[in-house]
Amino acid sequence: MNQASTTRSGRLRIREMTIDDLSEVFHIGEEIFTADLFPTLYRTWDEYEITTLFNSDSELCLVGEIDDRIVGFALGTTVEKHRSPWKYGYLVWLGVSPTVQKGRIGVRLFRDLKRRMREQGVRMIIIDTAANNQPALAFFRKQGFGNPQQHVYMTLNLTRKRKQGSRHDEPVA
Ligand SMILES: CC(C)(COP(=O)(O)OP(=O)(O)OC[C@H]1O[C@@H](n2cnc3c(N)ncnc32)[C@H](O)[C@@H]1OP(=O)(O)O)[C@@H](O)C(=O)NCCC(=O)NCCS
Repeated sequence: MNQASTTRSGRLRIREMTIDDLSEVFHIGEEIFTADLFPTLYRTWDEYEITTLFNSDSELCLVGEIDDRIVGFALGTTVEKHRSPWKYGYLVWLGVSPTVQKGRIGVRLFRDLKRRMREQGVRMIIIDTAANNQPALAFFRKQGFGNPQQHVYMTLNLTRKRKQGSRHDEPVA
C-alpha cells in the first residue's frame, strides 16, 4: 500500500523499494552513513546491505519520495529467536537525505514500517545505532524506544604477532 502526505518539503509518498531504486538509495546512504556515525565494521553501509534486505524482506524495504525523487528509506527485517514465541522486527537502516532532514520524513517512514511489521506479527522492534548519534537517539526516543543496552565491540588483529608472555593483544584503531 502506498501512502502520501504533505511534509514541509512537499508531497511525500511512502512506497516499497523497487529494483530501480537500489542505486539511488545506495548513494543517499553513502552521504549519510559516514564512518564517524558508524565507526564499526559490524555496521558498514555497502551495496550488499541493500540487496540482501531487498532479497529477503522486500515488504520491509521502503522509500520516501517527493516529486519522483527519493528522499529517504527504511530497510528492515524480522527475526525469530529459538525457543521464543515472539517475532522481532529489526530496523536495520533508516536514512533521510541531509537537505530534507527534520521534515518529518523519518517519522513517516518509521510509522509505515512499524505498521507493516505489526501486520507480520512482530511484537517488538529493535534498532541499533552509535552511542554518540544524538539525532538518531532523539528520533527513536520520540518514537517510543527505550531501555538502551550498551554493547562493546572488540577486535583481534591476526596480522600482528603476540609478544612472548604477553596476555594482552595490542589494541587496534
Ligand atoms: C535519524 C533520521 C532518520 C531522522 O529523520 P528525520 O526525517 O530527519 O526526522 P523527523 O523530522 O521525522 O523527526 C521526528 C522527531 O525526531 C526528533 N529528531 C529528528 N532529528 C533530530 C535532530 N537532529 N536532533 C534532535 N531531535 C531530532 C525530533 O523529536 C522530531 O520531532 P519534531 O519534528 O516534533 O521535532 C535522520 O536524521 C537521518 O537520516 N540521520 C542519519 C542516519 C541515521 O542516523 N539513521 C538512524 C540509524 S540507522
